[in-house]
Amino acid sequence: MKKTFEFLKRKKQRGQKITMLTCYDYPTAVLEDNAGIDVILVGDSVGTNVLGYESERQVTMDDMVHHLRAVRRGVSSAYLLVDMPYMSCETPAMALDNARLMLSHGADGVKLEGPKEDAVRHLANQGVEVCGHLGLNPQLHDKKALRAKTCASALELVESALGLERAGAGLIVFELIPEEVGRLVTEKLTVPTIGIGAGRHTDGQVLIINDLLGANSFALRHVAKYDDFNARTADALRRYVDDVTAGRFPGEANVRHLAPEELRALETRGQDPHSTVC
Ligand code: KIV
Repeated sequence: MKKTFEFLKRKKQRGQKITMLTCYDYPTAVLEDNAGIDVILVGDSVGTNVLGYESERQVTMDDMVHHLRAVRRGVSSAYLLVDMPYMSCETPAMALDNARLMLSHGADGVKLEGPKEDAVRHLANQGVEVCGHLGLNPQLHDKKALRAKTCASALELVESALGLERAGAGLIVFELIPEEVGRLVTEKLTVPTIGIGAGRHTDGQVLIINDLLGANSFALRHVAKYDDFNARTADALRRYVDDVTAGRFPGEANVRHLAPEELRALETRGQDPHSTVC
């Protein structure tokens, strides 16, 4: 079954949690889709997690389209969301042109960072499904620190979220906010809320796939590390280097042989440097 915004809303209404994960490549997309992830996000976190950039702000539309196309090939059931990168939504018209490009490459909907109500309204009015993103916005904030820490800033965040919902956002991600604020905003909104570092009460959770797999060398409080890919990959690579160096790889099990008659012919004719006929 193809998952839709309507499906996600029904999950919220029934009190069923929504699962979301980032994804940047085809094989991981197949695994995430088969695992039953509801929303697969081609996040601009591709920049720092895969492309070796220092900041999400370096990610371009071309980068996003390249990874979106790979992920699209692997997704059949999940809702496929893509991030609008830095500077791609400076005006509502620009947001629409870039969002249409994303849709033409297979996105089901687009995610926009910040309280960009005008852009969200313009997209929604033109039939583009939009996800908002509030709290920490890596494209807008220099410091990766907790947001909405005071009563005033928490109320401001709730107001921005209600504004995005009124403008037509069908889903909103909240990043790095106190649990109490995550609960309040989830109660106030009719559209589903997805948290990353936003506590236990949002309608769903999203993680960066590299963090979940431990495919990096840092630990974050809000992340559950389900594996240690970095250590396991480093170990596999060390063993490969050792085996090739020591002549243990390839072994008999990894090679193919000539049929005996071909071998005999080769041994006979191979001695004659002028013979090209078997
Ligand atoms: O780019 C991204 O991975 C995101 C998540 C943190 C939600 O926006």
